[in-house]
Amino acid sequence: MKLTPVILPVKMRSQSSALQIRLRSVRYINFAKWFRGKRERLWWVAGGGAALTLTLLSCSNFESGRTILAPPSIPGAEFVGSESCDTCHEKITRDFRTATHARLKAPGDNAKNMGCESCHGPGSLHVKSGGAARTIINPNKSPATCFQCHTEVRAAFELPHHHPVLEGKVSCSDCHNVHKGDAIKGGGTNTLQKVKGGGMGILSQNETCYQCHAAQRGPFVFEHEALREGCVSCHSPHGSVNQRLLTQRNATLCLKCHFQQQTVDGRLYIGDSDHSTRLVQGTCWSAGCHEAVHGSQVNGHFRY
Ligand code: HEC
Ligand code: HEC
Ligand code: HEC
Ligand code: HEC
Ligand code: HEC
Ligand code: HEC
Ligand code: HEC
Repeated sequence: MKLTPVILPVKMRSQSSALQIRLRSVRYINFAKWFRGKRERLWWVAGGGAALTLTLLSCSNFESGRTILAPPSIPGAEFVGSESCDTCHEKITRDFRTATHARLKAPGDNAKNMGCESCHGPGSLHVKSGGAARTIINPNKSPATCFQCHTEVRAAFELPHHHPVLEGKVSCSDCHNVHKGDAIKGGGTNTLQKVKGGGMGILSQNETCYQCHAAQRGPFVFEHEALREGCVSCHSPHGSVNQRLLTQRNATLCLKCHFQQQTVDGRLYIGDSDHSTRLVQGTCWSAGCHEAVHGSQVNGHFRY
């Protein structure tokens, strides 16, 4: 049995400032052992003919707080390990050592590095046929492969406001490195980026967004320093219940950085200026207030 499921922490990273150092744990188990006990609880989605299908093995009660997920499956194919891909896809395989997903391998007897196949499915048929069409999964055609392991991410793309990934207009790999380096572009968690210094990581994460949202790049005469903490300090990149993918829909968005100790009874001061009558007129960025929230060419308070 060569299939190796991955145990993901059910609660993946919650909304965190990109400046925070992230600690993660990924655990692996011996699939064969696990399978024997849980056979009846697995369900297999088997497609007809030669069509490639995804097989989902999931068991959320296995260990409290953890979900087991498995890579995609291709009928009749076995896992052969990432080294087998090297002969024909040398460049991708060489760079892959630095990739987040290269860590997906099983210890012990099962020590085959299933990195490539965790997204592309078992490769034996593909390798044997010398790369024939329809013998391997290309996740770019559908993010379903990614959702097998990242189930909670799917839910985010179904929120009322979201990047149109399910609609096929934006793909996971527009914002994520699948083959090289940190999966979160500019995320700064691989060793090389850590050595080069954390701050730059955020700026290059913003670069990812600027590819499609050039207007936010500036340069602005009056820059909002909040952008230095990353677009994600105000936007949920996958999706949100709030318009414009905002993490908060009201002044809370701004007050998490601009809160100040209040000293005058019944008055609300923000930035040392009395806002008591202003907040009722709308959000901080509407009603003629800080409308140029990303930065302004003319006004230091980002009014326009
Ligand atoms: C014997 C050579 C060979 C080996 C070994 C090989 N491939 Fe391929 N692969 C090809 C060829 C040829 C193509 C099709 C040509 C192209 O599109 O570049 C291809 C295409 C692909 C594609 C794109 C398929 C598509 O529908 O767009 C993926 C993904 C892929 N290979 C992954 C892998 C993985 C993962 C492995 C290791 C398990 C692997 N390949 C091993 C030759 C090989
Ligand atoms: C995290 C998931 C993931 C892993 C792991 C992964 N890939 Fe991919 N792969 C993708 C996605 C998404 C695409 C389509 C987007 C793209 O081309 O970047 C793709 C495309 C490809 C293609 C076709 C496009 C091309 O550039 O020719 C090949 C070949 C390929 N992968 C090989 C590999 C090999 C070999 C490995 C392991 C060394 C690997 N992949 C590991 C997600 C993954
Ligand atoms: C076989 C399971 C599996 C598949 C399939 C898979 N991933 Fe992952 N992914 C993981 C694991 C495990 C981690 C590491 C989690 C951690 O470090 O917290 C991870 C990490 C990530 C991260 C970085 C998370 C972080 O906090 O740094 C991103 C982004 C990501 N994956 C995107 C993708 C995309 C996009 C695809 C599809 C092309 C994909 N994954 C397919 C298992 C998978
Ligand atoms: C518009 C850009 C964008 C797209 C498209 C995108 N992501 Fe992300 N994703 C991000 C950013 C930015 C982060 C880091 C968030 C943070 O630092 O708080 C992230 C974080 C993640 C994480 C780790 C944190 C978490 O939310 O669990 C995973 C896993 C992930 N993305 C998977 C995916 C998958 C799978 C897809 C495609 C279905 C996808 N992403 C599409 C930008 C994107
Ligand atoms: C591949 C191109 C692409 C990338 C990269 C990208 N976006 Fe988007 N973004 C889009 C598209 C397309 C829409 C939907 C526009 C629409 O519906 O009118 C969108 C919508 C948005 C919206 C909502 C805009 C509105 O008018 O409601 C925000 C906010 C946003 N993106 C922020 C980001 C952030 C932050 C990043 C980086 C993490 C990012 N985007 C990366 C293409 C992209
Ligand atoms: C300080 C919080 C904050 C940060 C940081 C931030 N945004 Fe925004 N963004 C907003 C707010 C608030 C709106 C809604 C503006 C409106 O509705 O008039 C918005 C709207 C948007 C829109 C929709 C178009 C528009 O301008 O109204 C896009 C696209 C966008 N932001 C992209 C980005 C990108 C890319 C980054 C990172 C470079 C970023 N934002 C950083 C608060 C922020
Ligand atoms: C991630 C933290 C962060 C968030 C969130 C944030 N800001 Fe800022 N903002 C800053 C920093 C840092 C400065 C520069 C230092 C200062 O003047 O306090 C700044 C400066 C400003 C200034 C200029 C200060 C002045 O002297 O007039 C305005 C106006 C402003 N922010 C409005 C907003 C609004 C409106 C929001 C919500 C949409 C917001 N900020 C959200 C961090 C943030």
